Amino acid sequence: MSDKATLEINGTSYELPLVVGSENEVAIDIKTLRGATGGVITIDPGYKNTGSCESAITFLDGEKGILRYRGYSIEELAEKADFLEVAYLLIFGELPTQEQLDKFHSDIKHHSVVDDDVKKIIEAFPKSAHPMGVLSSLTSALTAFNPSSVDVDSEEEMYNAIVRILGKFPVLVAWTMRKKHGLPLEYGDDSLGYVENVLKMMFKSPNKEYEQNEILVNALDKLLILHADHEQNCSTSTVRITGSSHAGLFVSLAAGISALWGPLHGGANQAVLEMLEAIKEDGGDTKKYMAKAKDKSDPFRLMGFGHRVYKNFDPRAKIIKVAADEVLGDLGVEDPILDIAKGLEKEALEDQYFVDRKLYPNVDFYSGIIYRAMGIPVEMFTVMFALGRLPGWIAQWREMRLRKEPIGRPRQLYTGETYRPFKTINER
Ligand code: CMC
Repeated sequence: MSDKATLEINGTSYELPLVVGSENEVAIDIKTLRGATGGVITIDPGYKNTGSCESAITFLDGEKGILRYRGYSIEELAEKADFLEVAYLLIFGELPTQEQLDKFHSDIKHHSVVDDDVKKIIEAFPKSAHPMGVLSSLTSALTAFNPSSVDVDSEEEMYNAIVRILGKFPVLVAWTMRKKHGLPLEYGDDSLGYVENVLKMMFKSPNKEYEQNEILVNALDKLLILHADHEQNCSTSTVRITGSSHAGLFVSLAAGISALWGPLHGGANQAVLEMLEAIKEDGGDTKKYMAKAKDKSDPFRLMGFGHRVYKNFDPRAKIIKVAADEVLGDLGVEDPILDIAKGLEKEALEDQYFVDRKLYPNVDFYSGIIYRAMGIPVEMFTVMFALGRLPGWIAQWREMRLRKEPIGRPRQLYTGETYRPFKTINER
């Protein structure tokens, strides 16, 4: 294959280099385009064809349904690794040795206390506040309590900011939920594993010893791993572009949390459960909702279906569907909406509209059913997604900073008014 692409504009040819990735993906490098052509740019709303960076973290092939973190398949990681190992792998590039993992965990634990004054900020939110808004605000507010985590340039400063946020974020997650449910805001337990500690902080009742449940620990561990990174999605791109102005890690993450909140992105897990509930309340008539999803005059979409990149199947959805059966079985939970979800999936997979558009269940379709069986309230589902995505956002932010990427600043094609003289108020 040639290593150049040729572009012709008004009879003049321009040669643009081709860049090939380690999985033989090909990109046209347009860095010189504007300068060489005297101002021509490319336009691609939604970035459907535009690579924003080179990255060595996550590979996904949407046609084949492949997802790998640093070369390791998601299937193997979900089965054999734990969340903290995966976090280390994503951020630093290699699976940790036992010694590296112990140090990483101990550094995280060392920073897992949140300034008590943060509780005052939480107190100021109304009980009706959505946990994602609270979490984004608190993550941003942490900057004020940890000013040394803002201006980080060296690898060592970055490491310190990273272990800090990995330690404090689960506390914020737990407090966000506990405040909504009127429970006291407590700290974690250093003797526990990362995921066990998250569960205890979320669910410990003030008047009882907390007993760990292996089924819950394993289920959450797996869900967090499956959500840990997904290359340049909406929230990750937000983190990278925010961080590209050299804003600190915590505020870059806060921006990512806000992006994740939307129902077309991470907010879909809450929307799926609400949709399945509505179908149940409506007598379980899945056909009616299929028809709504296909009706172009109806804004309704089948939540948990479709993906910008996966056009065959979402490998995470496959793993989660099996896990949903296992976890509900192990916990002895019978949830009629699991049957509605399976029925809906079957119908959609056989429906020409969905087949033609290559719409398959995505990661959010079954995850909410597991969260609900675990006792996690529906408005916390996207927060759990954020907890899982945290190492991915961190890894992408760190890569962007270490590669000294320039500030993210897209161009635009202006389509507004050309010059016109100012009109005084009486002339308008
Ligand atoms: N239900 C009904 N029709 C759909 C759906 C759906 N869920 N998703 C896409 N379509 C249709 C869409 O109307 C369009 O049809 P047409 O070609 O006739 O105009 C076609 O399929 C292509 O859709 P698109 O919106 O151009 O595709 P996109 O790549 O811009 O959007 C998506 C991807 C995930 C935003 C979209 O599929 C969607 O809104 N899905 C529902 C929300 C959801 O589950 N989001 C979670 C995504 S995975 C986890 C994550 O990223 O956080």
